[in-house]
This record gives sequence, structure tokens and C-alpha cells, in this order.
Amino acid sequence: MAEAKKLYIKTYGCQMNVYDSERMAEAMGGAGYVETQSPDDADMILLNTCHIREKAAEKVYSELGRFRGLKEARPDLKIGVAGCVAQAEGEEIMRRQPMVDLVVGPQSYHRLPELEAKARAGTKALDTDFPLEDKFDALKNRPKAKRGPTAFLTVQEGCDKFCAFCVVPYTRGAEVSRPATRVLDEARDLVERGVREITLLGQNVNAYHGEGPDGKDWSLARLIWALNDIDGLERIRFTTSHPNDMDDDLIAAHGECEKLMPYLHLPVQSGSDRILKRMNRSHTAESYLRLIERIRAARPDILMSGDFIVGFPEETEADFQATLDLIEEVQYGYAFSFKYSPRPGTPAAERSMVDEAEASERLQRLQALITRQQRAVQDSMVGRRVKVLFEKPGRLPGQMVGKSDYLHAVHVAESDAQPGELSEVEIIESGANSLAGRPVQGLS
Ligand code: 5AD
Ligand code: SF4
Repeated sequence: MAEAKKLYIKTYGCQMNVYDSERMAEAMGGAGYVETQSPDDADMILLNTCHIREKAAEKVYSELGRFRGLKEARPDLKIGVAGCVAQAEGEEIMRRQPMVDLVVGPQSYHRLPELEAKARAGTKALDTDFPLEDKFDALKNRPKAKRGPTAFLTVQEGCDKFCAFCVVPYTRGAEVSRPATRVLDEARDLVERGVREITLLGQNVNAYHGEGPDGKDWSLARLIWALNDIDGLERIRFTTSHPNDMDDDLIAAHGECEKLMPYLHLPVQSGSDRILKRMNRSHTAESYLRLIERIRAARPDILMSGDFIVGFPEETEADFQATLDLIEEVQYGYAFSFKYSPRPGTPAAERSMVDEAEASERLQRLQALITRQQRAVQDSMVGRRVKVLFEKPGRLPGQMVGKSDYLHAVHVAESDAQPGELSEVEIIESGANSLAGRPVQGLS
């Protein structure tokens, strides 16, 4: 048998790209490739890129530059660019970096083996179509290896919301939901391979409306309840959600569905109604706050997480202050914040920018507030008993690390827990980025 070729994949951006990279590795497994952790001995290097903000695309170009030496030393080495930068700038990449052999958009990755064969035969290959066949299905018969305790599962892709700043509706296309039966099959398969926690992914995951086994449209809540019945699956999470798609059933599930974790990532982007309108968000700060009240009424201990953009075109100090006020009111457990970055082809990219230094200064102020909140929420765990799903050994001998229900990293010293074990832990200390815990005796 021919020796396996080696594939090195570097993933940028969101969890959906992590999921896609796993699928691309599986697809290339069918073409005789095994994954390697280093580009140095790879026969093929694949960058799975993100286009959401400027720096991400720039990183791709500088990373490609770094591979020039490898390519010169081994002209047989094939270099591919996948993901959203590939989708948005495919031809530009080929022009700017002639050493790139293939470009594949996020909707065509199941065609990767054909593209690789084409590139091996000496022809540059570019595929940024939105093919009709289901890329998830095209891969479902690939051999599958044992998995760790946590996994991502993409259930929905694309977005029809067209926020004025965002490239997703252009790079990932229109909203599409996978049929519930396929999602449930994949979840059962993951559980058989060792997975205990599944995070359902979608750019707008709570807009999920896949066909159910009964032929009717299933909502995300319906899908979560069906996943709740899978033996051996212990935890369910989902991300990313839009405030307008938090329906009553999904809110109720947070209070009633035993395996659905008390953590919700619900980006609001700004606390100013004037800016929200210009962002085409179609909700107000007030409606978002009332929504969180309802979610907290269903699940009082839920940990809220969010995304914020500062320095959106025409954002004034008063608009920014409204964002800080909203953050004060919500008390986030986690939050991700970004300086606005104009994305070519989006409506906001045409508008006048906030002064760069002003935007940077606002970002710093916002991040300082968020850091304080995150820390306060994390510190409030001290003295509490939480469930931890152990994932792997820690840096110190005998230490095990995992995540609490609230997604805090927790480490336990001198632990005999195994990866995949879910056990109760008492939190004894709150550190910079994680909690320290000790096992609760006498509990299973
Ligand atoms: N500039 C800055 N941040 C952005 N995001 C999306 N588009 C942009 C942009 N053009 C942020 C939003 C989104 C997160 C994934 O990335 O906050 O929720
Ligand atoms: Fe982008 Fe999310 Fe807005 Fe869709 S809802 S356009 S993915 S920010």
C-alpha cells in the first residue's frame, strides 16, 4: 500500500470553521491523507480562513508568505486556501500568492479530493460555488475515529439577517438548516465515539428550522429535546444566536431541558438604538434587555455571553455610553468585543468611519468593564458545587481540567478523573482564567 500523504490544516475564526476542518480532514482521509500537526513534513497545507474582520485576512497572507520556503524546497507540496477568505477573495488570492494551488469555499469542501487531484496534475483549482448537493451528506460514509468528550455539530449555516457590517450572508450564503434526522444520526454517532457534550453550531443557530422525521419543520428547541433523549449524551450547548430568533420554546427549554447547559451566547453588538438601527439589527436595546429578563426568569443562574462592536460608523460618545450602560445592566459572564472593521461589499463599509484613536480608546474602556464583570461572575463560583466534564490532564502532574456547566475552565489537583467523566466539584479558588476545584466526596 502506498504510504499515506500528510495534511496540515490551520484553522482560523469561528467554531464552524473548526467543524469544517474536521470534515475536510475526513474528506482527504478518503483520498489517502492523514493529518499532521506540523507544516514541515506535510504534502498538503490547507488554511481554513475567516473573513469576519480585516486582520484575519491579513494573517492568511502573512501565513502564506511563511510557507514560501517550504514550497521552494519541495515543489510537490500543495497549498490550499479554504473558508470564507477563499470564498470572498479566491481569484485575488491566486493572483497575490501564485504558490497557492487550490482555493475552496466553505460550501464546496466535500469536493476537496477532486480539487487536490487536479492540483496534483498541475492545474490550479478554484471552487467557490454554492453547490446544491449537501456537503454534510457527501461525507457521511467516511471512516471515523474515536473522539474526545466534546464536539461541535453544525446544524445550520448561512444567514439572511444582513447586519450592515457583516460578510457572513455573502461568504456563507443564505440560511440553510440540516434535516433533524441527519443531525440526530450524527449526534448518536459522536456519542458512540466517546462524545459527552455537543455544541450545536450555526451562524444563526436559533433560526434553525430543519425538516423533522414527521415531515414538519422542527425548531431548535424541538431538536434539543430530541437530543436530550440520546443516552450517553450529557450536555447540549448551542451558538450563535440572534435575539429575534429566541422563541418561547427555546427560552422554556433553558428552564426545563435537563441536558441544556445554563450558558447563552446572545450578541447584541451595541446598546444604542440609533446604532442598532444603522446596523440593521431590527431589535432595540430595551427589547434585548426584556428578552434577557425572560430568559433569566426561566433559568435564573444562566450565564450570559455577548458580542460587541465599537466604533461602528457614526457612533458617538453618547451611543458608546449606551452600550456601556447595557453591559452594566446585563452583567455578562463572557463577552467578545471588536473594533469595527469595514468589510468590502457590506453597506456599512461605504459610511464615514469613527476616528481610529477614538475607536481604540472606546474598545479599551469597554474591555475593562467586561473584564471586571467576567471576573466577578467567575469569582462568584467560589464555594459553589458545580458539575465538571473532565477533558484532559492539566499542566501539573496529577491535575485534570474540564469545563463547568457555565463553561468556566476548572482544574482539579491530584484527580483520578478520566477524560469524559462528569463529576461534582467544589470550587475553592478563582484565578486569572480558570477556577480551581476539589472533588466532592461521596457523590457519584
Ligand atoms: N467588524 C467588527 N466586528 C465584526 N463582527 C462581525 N462583523 C464585524 C465587522 N465588520 C463581530 C460581531 C459578530 C462577531 C462574530 O464578529 O460582533 O457577532
Ligand atoms: Fe452576521 Fe450574525 Fe448579523 Fe447574520 S446575524 S449578518 S451572521 S452578525
